[in-house]
Formats: sequence, C-alpha cells, structure tokens
Amino acid sequence: MSRRKLLRFEENKFRENIVEPGKPFFDAAKGRWHEAFFRNPNLITLELACGRGEYTTGLAAVYPDRNFIGVDIKGDRLWRGSTAALEAGLANAAFLRTPIDFLERHFAEGEVGEIWIVHPDPRPRKSDDKRRLTHPRYLEMYKKLLRPGGLVHLKTDSPLLFEYTMEVLQQTPVTDLQYTTDLYHSDLLPLHHGIRTHYERIFTGKGFTVNYLQFRFA
Ligand SMILES: C[S@@+](CC[C@H](N)C(=O)[O-])C[C@H]1O[C@@H](n2cnc3c(N)ncnc32)[C@H](O)[C@@H]1O
Repeated sequence: MSRRKLLRFEENKFRENIVEPGKPFFDAAKGRWHEAFFRNPNLITLELACGRGEYTTGLAAVYPDRNFIGVDIKGDRLWRGSTAALEAGLANAAFLRTPIDFLERHFAEGEVGEIWIVHPDPRPRKSDDKRRLTHPRYLEMYKKLLRPGGLVHLKTDSPLLFEYTMEVLQQTPVTDLQYTTDLYHSDLLPLHHGIRTHYERIFTGKGFTVNYLQFRFA
C-alpha cells in the first residue's frame, strides 16, 4: 500500500465526519444518526458506492437543511470526500466506511429519506448479478431502510446495468418511475443537480451517455 494511502487512513481515524470500524459510533449508529450524529431531525440521504463523495458534498451544499452520508468501502476515496466537506464547512455531510451489504447494521428501518446510487460497478458477468447494487436483494434492503415514499436515484454509464435495473423494476412494485438513457439531452437533466462524479467524467469522456432513473417503492 502506498505511503499516501496509509497517511490518509491515519487521518481518517481522527476525522469526525468519517464513521468507520474502530470508532465507537460505527457500532452504535443504527437508529441514532439524527440524535447522536447530526443532532437534528433533518432528512438523511445516502450516496451508495460514493467513491469521492461528489453527491454527498454537492447535495449537502445545495440543501443545508438536509443530511448526507456517502457510503463506500475504500478509505482513501472517503478521505477525499471528507476533505472536501471539511474545506467547504459542510457539517451536514458524513462518510460511512462499510460494505453496502451491511447497511442494516448501521441504519434502522425508515431512518433514511433518499438514496442515490452513483455510477456503481456494473458487474457485467451474469454470474455476478447478485453483486449489482440494483439486484432485488439490495432493493429489498433499500425498501426497509427508506421511509415511505423515499426516492431512489440511479446514475450509470453502463447500458447493461441500466437495462438490468429496468427489468428488475418491472418485477418490483414501484411508483413515479422516470428514466432516460441520455441524461444530458433529457428533460430530467435538472434532477441531477449538475453534479458530475469522477467516474462520470471518465466515461462521458469516452463517449458514453449517462443513464438515469428515479423511483419510489410502492
Ligand atoms: C465505479 S466506482 C464509482 C465511484 C463514484 N460513485 C463515482 O461515480 O466516481 C464504484 C465505487 O463503489 C465502491 N464499492 C463497490 N462495491 C461496494 C460495496 N459492496 N460496498 C461499498 N462500496 C462498494 C468502490 O469502492 C468504488 O468506490
């Protein structure tokens, strides 16, 4: 591991906006984010597979009266999001280092108001479909965590993941589904708040369009 990564991991240990294994709140967070972490009752939005957390910090700046938590397993990427939040003075942005599979260890039913899934790994191999973040097993978990009517957003540069997700949604009771296979030439463009992530820049630079959808569980 590079020295830079090790230094970032060391800094993360002392960052108040990073919740990670080894910190007391990591195992005590479930059901307590409003009261014990943000100290307000404001809606919590999760950014899953957040990488550098561009949605967490970007939306936190747009909506100061809401709370945002970026979730990823990579500590050096979370360090970047954490640094951006600290530099911008965003007390309503936080980062949780955990596999998404374990979200129910950290959030109670109905504790989350909204979910963004932003350019997740597409997992193109059929044998990997259970690892796609829009597989039914993940959707079941998101439904439990979300308060009724909570929005789920997906942005992806992968046509395969987008088509797969649309197929899954045909088998899932959802409402208010809106989608586009070319966000930048769509009426839905304002819904992404003009935020572009690291991976979005890479893939749009290679000529990929951005697929976007949003829905609520019925
Ligand atoms: C393709 S990158 C996208 C990062 C960022 N959203 C962006 O658009 O630039 C996928 C991210 O998902 C994270 N990731 C993949 N599987 C995960 C899992 N099961 N739990 C948590 N994070 C995961 C990776 O660490 C990586 O940062």
